Amino acid sequence: MKKYACEPMTAKTRKKFSMKDEHGREYKRYKHPDGTYHRQYLDDMRPMRIRDVWEISTIQSWNEKVGYPTQKPEALLERIIKASSNEGDLVADFFCGSGTTLAVAEKLGRKWIGTDLGKFAIHTTRKRMIGVQRELKQEGKPYRAFEILNLGHYERQHYVGLDPDSRHGQQVAELEKRERDFVELILSAYHAQPVTGFQNFHGKKAGRMVVVGPVNYQVDSYMIDEILLECKKRRITGVDVLGFDFEMSLAPAKQEEARDKGIDLSLRNIPREVFDKRAVERDQVVFYEVPYIEIDHSLKGDTFSIKLTDFAVFYSQDTDFIPAEDLKNKRSKVVVEKGKVIEYSKDTNGHTHHKVLTKKWTDWVDYWAVDFDYERRKSRGGDFIFENEWQSFRTKRDRSLELETPFVEFGKDRRERTVAVKVVDIFGNDTMTKRKIWRGS
Ligand SMILES: C[S@@+](CC[C@H](N)C(=O)[O-])C[C@H]1O[C@@H](n2cnc3c(N)ncnc32)[C@H](O)[C@@H]1O
Repeated sequence: MKKYACEPMTAKTRKKFSMKDEHGREYKRYKHPDGTYHRQYLDDMRPMRIRDVWEISTIQSWNEKVGYPTQKPEALLERIIKASSNEGDLVADFFCGSGTTLAVAEKLGRKWIGTDLGKFAIHTTRKRMIGVQRELKQEGKPYRAFEILNLGHYERQHYVGLDPDSRHGQQVAELEKRERDFVELILSAYHAQPVTGFQNFHGKKAGRMVVVGPVNYQVDSYMIDEILLECKKRRITGVDVLGFDFEMSLAPAKQEEARDKGIDLSLRNIPREVFDKRAVERDQVVFYEVPYIEIDHSLKGDTFSIKLTDFAVFYSQDTDFIPAEDLKNKRSKVVVEKGKVIEYSKDTNGHTHHKVLTKKWTDWVDYWAVDFDYERRKSRGGDFIFENEWQSFRTKRDRSLELETPFVEFGKDRRERTVAVKVVDIFGNDTMTKRKIWRGS
């Protein structure tokens, strides 16, 4: 018999065969036009040949929805993956969004690779894939470990990468121009005015000095010391340092040190949206303050556990939004103001209302993960690799969060462990801290 791809029977149709005859054969009853009743047996049903119009309904189930605006139904990806690959094959989706392709590939026993430019996409996918792993584990089925890699700061490379074939003098001039362009771009997205004649400062905003951190290095304590020195020399009392990466534990230690010197030091992340022209034009680029994480540990015999005890954020969106003027009736808008997420709304009579959505520090945390032995493995670039050995996160269905890990063994002959904790906040920004733990301390 010739084989061809068939439309799978929908759950709704399958459900109609709810009766069984004396041999256990499933059937449904139907009425013939002449008024007599007949049986239609399930195993007599001829499969319907697949057509070039696929009727796959939108995601109906609350369970499947992950809250990503362009999420596709798993049924659609299931059909595509089944039709185009076999078990053990490698499936890739370079625009993975919420990770539908990857989730289905994992469930169907395929290997997978996913990429996306958006941090919210990566974060949504990470949680989804952990969910799939847990589901498969519960069902006693095999599942794969996975790693999230940051393929580097390639948007930034545009500003530092040089043509290797050009002459040295040309390269220097080119590099200087690119650095100037980069600083100009960041200052304009931050609504700061450029300044000259300083050793560290690049701009000025609302009475504070602004420093644009390096393109391809993290802002470290040495740089901050230089900045504080110049602040002191020039009697500057407020400075905003903008950076792509900050050395771990700069916040809050260096901020406290600055406060003791009478300087208000704000450390802010440069968001990748600064490279998106449309986002800059629409004023959607938010430079969030670097949050800090506090953790604690407990010892029990040869084991230890990690507790998340604080996650402090000082986010402010820096917009000119005035609810009474800018909101239409029956509309609402979520705004971040002075470390709080606030929902403003206007009722049918034009009265504005507000509701604070973040009441406790834990409301900011969407996900946190622990690597109990952070310094065991380095990447080719020489950085340590964070391994998600344990994690707790909120899902659309389950909003709860565990704040302490189970106890883990120190391990034979190990006197100490360096533990790293990563927190991803509700906006998808991640921050990390680490701590050395000694056996018996
Ligand atoms: C339509 S969505 C994919 C939705 C996905 N199929 C799902 O079910 O959730 C497209 C995704 O492509 C990503 N994207 C757009 N341009 C990209 C690029 N140049 N490289 C990587 N990802 C990109 C977006 O961030 C977005 O998440």
